[in-house]
Amino acid sequence: MTHRKVSKWGGLSAEQLRKRWGREDVHLYGAVDSTNDLARELAEDGAAAGTVVLAREQGSGRGRAGREWHSPAGGLYLSMIFRPQEAENPELLPLLAGLGIVRELERRIEGLAPSVKWPNDLMAGDRKLGGILSEAAWGQGRIRHLVVGTGINVARLGEGAPRGLRSLATSVNAATGRDVPLVEVADAVIAGLEAFVPRAPARLDPSLLALADRYDWLRDRRVAVTPLDGGETSTGTCVGIAPDGALLFRPDRGALRRVTRVTVEAET
Ligand code: BTN
Repeated sequence: MTHRKVSKWGGLSAEQLRKRWGREDVHLYGAVDSTNDLARELAEDGAAAGTVVLAREQGSGRGRAGREWHSPAGGLYLSMIFRPQEAENPELLPLLAGLGIVRELERRIEGLAPSVKWPNDLMAGDRKLGGILSEAAWGQGRIRHLVVGTGINVARLGEGAPRGLRSLATSVNAATGRDVPLVEVADAVIAGLEAFVPRAPARLDPSLLALADRYDWLRDRRVAVTPLDGGETSTGTCVGIAPDGALLFRPDRGALRRVTRVTVEAET
């Protein structure tokens, strides 16, 4: 796909958004394949930390584990470039990004009741609101650059949304019952990403653990856990998040386990 730059996004120009968010660079596109891919290309070409890429829609939006991210016009598709000096625990990054974002969404958008479904889903009430895709480029044993992409459903999901998604997903406007400007959702995402990702700790300290506890959508829920590599599914209960970012899972049979690299389906 050829990527067409646009002069305005959410009614504001790149210059207005650059000032609003205190960025060196904000790139605005119409339809793209994936803002994460464009941000990665910009980062390879030397773009500054804090650079933001926004698109009105995506043709091949990507989610965790190679899933497709349905990205029609009316949603927020935002990727930000980071150049962390160190990030000793990259697996923690989506969770840190998510905690920062839901805290800001809760502060700024009344009536949303956001939470994080480990490790990278954003929830509003009991439905999926958005997700985070963190992708690092490595060189000489350290992160050369990191792209954190966030997708949030803002406009109500239309008839074009896949059937399975309509019953499980929601949007900012559906959850709040108002029409929230895209730029206000982007304000929260940018402030949320800046909160913990640039100086990402390797472990959650007590204040981050308290935040994880507060926004942990899975806590005390019955779930089915399946390893990403296709191992056997186990059922049990989620009991929290460990300091290293692993999910704490008590299977129906057996002892409490720390799990990583799994998908988690909540029982309905
Ligand atoms: C998930 O739920 O698995 C993560 C979804 C992440 C979607 C965002 S939209 C902006 C950025 N560009 C992408 O292709 N993916 C992320």
